[in-house]
Amino acid sequence: MVILIAELYVTPSKKKILKYEHFDSLLIHDHALDVMSTPPITLTKEATMREAKALMRDHRISGVPIVDDKEALVGLVTLENIIIALENNFIDDPIEKHMVRDVVYLKDDMDVSTVLEYLMTYNFGRYPVIDKNNKVVGVITYGDLALHILERLGNVYLHEKKREEILMPGKSLLSHDSYGNGDFYSYIIDSSDLDLAGQGSTSFKKFLQEHEFPPEDTRRASISLYEAEVNVVLHAYGKGEIRAYLKGGQVFMLVTDNGPGIDDIELAMQPGWTTASDEVRERGFGAGMGLDNIKKYSDKLIILSSNAGVKMEIVIVSEDKNKGVPT
Ligand SMILES: Nc1ncnc2c1ncn2[C@@H]1O[C@H](COP(=O)(O)OP(=O)(O)OP(=O)(O)O)[C@@H](O)[C@H]1O
Ligand SMILES: [Mg+2]
Repeated sequence: MVILIAELYVTPSKKKILKYEHFDSLLIHDHALDVMSTPPITLTKEATMREAKALMRDHRISGVPIVDDKEALVGLVTLENIIIALENNFIDDPIEKHMVRDVVYLKDDMDVSTVLEYLMTYNFGRYPVIDKNNKVVGVITYGDLALHILERLGNVYLHEKKREEILMPGKSLLSHDSYGNGDFYSYIIDSSDLDLAGQGSTSFKKFLQEHEFPPEDTRRASISLYEAEVNVVLHAYGKGEIRAYLKGGQVFMLVTDNGPGIDDIELAMQPGWTTASDEVRERGFGAGMGLDNIKKYSDKLIILSSNAGVKMEIVIVSEDKNKGVPT
């Protein structure tokens, strides 16, 4: 009999969960499906324990899910079962006779925090993952989960590193004209080239420095603007506009685009939520951190979205009210 995980009551170890709490927001949108290794390496119950041993050796794995002719989970053979079979001389028996039947398995639509709870509750090496038709579609080990978490953290790291590089003084990518007149600044975003994303915010950073806007506030403003600008390049076909002005120690930045708009702003604001492709992520974008960063660094944020585009107003209020007067 295979135990239905969904019906089990799981008490997670509070202490351990607390340790993982800060990963939660990053992993909140991921499911077992995103973590598991595929395709699963499986055998049917008619195969022998010797065949299981050979398969485990060839693939360097320590357990094999056993499936029926519909690829549904019926058991599991582990290295321990193999050792016992060798010691007791029944290595040529069919798997059916010796497999583990009470297999703890995961469902492909379980969220990652539930997966983590299972891994911490049962100390098994691997967990078959099944889909809604009970078909085994993958396997999750601690290693798979660790890799997934590292990948997510890696994305966030790349995102931050990339932004720092682009906003670094003397490393400007500038080729487009920007327009800065008195306390007013404007820039047309017109490129979907990710390698060039951030030109507007780089030149705006310079503009603020020239106006002797306080360094920490300049940093907050340029980071927020960078995130909004990259979003236009990444999600709005690269067409948009930055208009900003300085007044009484405040920076007002308006970023508008003609893209498809944001479907669900509340969801998009959540850290880790992204519609970016894996390819984009590998290039240091699409960690799902942009809007969250804008919220974090700005003093006021208004987002208006429709299917004609996004209008975003970001305000930075400096402690120093005398700054930001026209030069
Ligand atoms: N200007 C925009 N037009 C359309 N969709 C947008 C726009 N800005 C954001 N979005 C949507 O909101 C999601 C979250 O945006 P956010 O900036 O937080 O993350 P990201 O751009 O996907 O990744 P990152 O900013 O970490 O590189 C995006 O994946 C996209 O679906
Ligand atoms: Mg973004």
